[in-house]
Amino acid sequence: MKRKKILVTGGAGFIGGNFVQYMVKKYPHYYIYNLDLLTYAGDLTKHRAIEKNDNYCFIKADIADREFIMSFFEKEKFDYVIHFAAESHVDRSITNPSIFVTTNVLGTQVLLDASKEIGITKFIHVSTDEVYGELDFNPKTFFTEETPIQPNSPYSASKASSDLLVRAYHETFGLPINITRCSNNYGPFHFPEKLIPLTISRVLNDQKIPVYGDGKNVRDWLHVADHCSAIDLVLHDGVNGEVYNVGGHNERTNLEVVKTIISILGKSDTLIEFVTDRLGHDKRYAIDPTKLQKLGWNPTYTFETGITQTIKWYLENQAWWEQIISGEYKTYIESQYSFEL
Ligand code: NAD
Ligand code: DAU
Repeated sequence: MKRKKILVTGGAGFIGGNFVQYMVKKYPHYYIYNLDLLTYAGDLTKHRAIEKNDNYCFIKADIADREFIMSFFEKEKFDYVIHFAAESHVDRSITNPSIFVTTNVLGTQVLLDASKEIGITKFIHVSTDEVYGELDFNPKTFFTEETPIQPNSPYSASKASSDLLVRAYHETFGLPINITRCSNNYGPFHFPEKLIPLTISRVLNDQKIPVYGDGKNVRDWLHVADHCSAIDLVLHDGVNGEVYNVGGHNERTNLEVVKTIISILGKSDTLIEFVTDRLGHDKRYAIDPTKLQKLGWNPTYTFETGITQTIKWYLENQAWWEQIISGEYKTYIESQYSFEL
């Protein structure tokens, strides 16, 4: 039987990286191509354990490089594309929106054109709950797949634009697609610009934790392993053209998240520093995952089991995140946070 060829874009990043490892191990009879530009967020050291596997390879390329992508697809004739590659950090989209449009919107369109050209079997677009905008603090309100798209940041606007292009390629050209919209992920290999790994790494170094505004904004946290299993299910069983929300009902205020990490690591809340709020800071995200659950998905981690596993991972893998925070990252932190960290 012909070996299925799966192209994963952004497989050197946080979620794409976890997904590549999940797929390489679970499906030895598939061939996994990891295509990534290796921006500041991409890192291949995470794949040392699989880099010599005969069902894995890496290609350094830009998804927005139309000429290369078109000829690469023509040559390899992929069966599936799982599209993670993106600029993913909201704060960076506030200081430098342009690259978010180039990568997230134009890059996605190039991949759609190439997929259409070779007649792909399935294109999975990995999107985000942030395209729905924000919810108020009423705990009975949730994002469903019918919630109107109302993005508030340049990042979420770029993701929403790419979602609409993916939908349009399905409606106009019949491209077989699914869009997944997941809540906030956390877990191994999370880049330490994001709240949870930022907090863990800084608590371990006895550094101040910058909490935006009053710390009452709510996020709905999902362990990255549960996101991977959701995408796997949608890839194989998702109904063509459908959108699936992904989330596990793990809503926490940012202050609760930070205090939980400080407490597990046995440090003091005096490390918390309230800082100037993020511009346009979305109040609350909360996912209704009913549609995906009906397809057969259920998360395996609660927030408590997931955060404990994640902290343990960061303790056991200090070399991985220390090589990041000692590099260009230092300049980023200095420009992002106005106080001395
Ligand atoms: P990340 O920033 O950790 O990784 C992004 C990867 O994309 C990096 O390896 C980077 O090198 C690569 N990349 C960037 N520009 C590229 C380009 N032009 N060509 C090829 N590769 C490029 O991001 P993440 O947190 O792993 O998010 C992955 C995807 O999941 C994104 O599309 C994001 O919108 C979505 N998502 C993220 C979350 C979350 O909580 N992190 C939640 C829901 C959805
Ligand atoms: O909801 C899914 C989204 O989750 C993804 O689409 C994004 O790619 C991903 O980055 C994430 O976006 P957030 O903006 O929610 O994640 P972040 O970790 O940056 O922030 C989480 C919350 O913590 C948010 O309310 C802002 C706050 N925060 C963040 C940082 C970096 C702080 O209070 N202090 C900080 O220093």
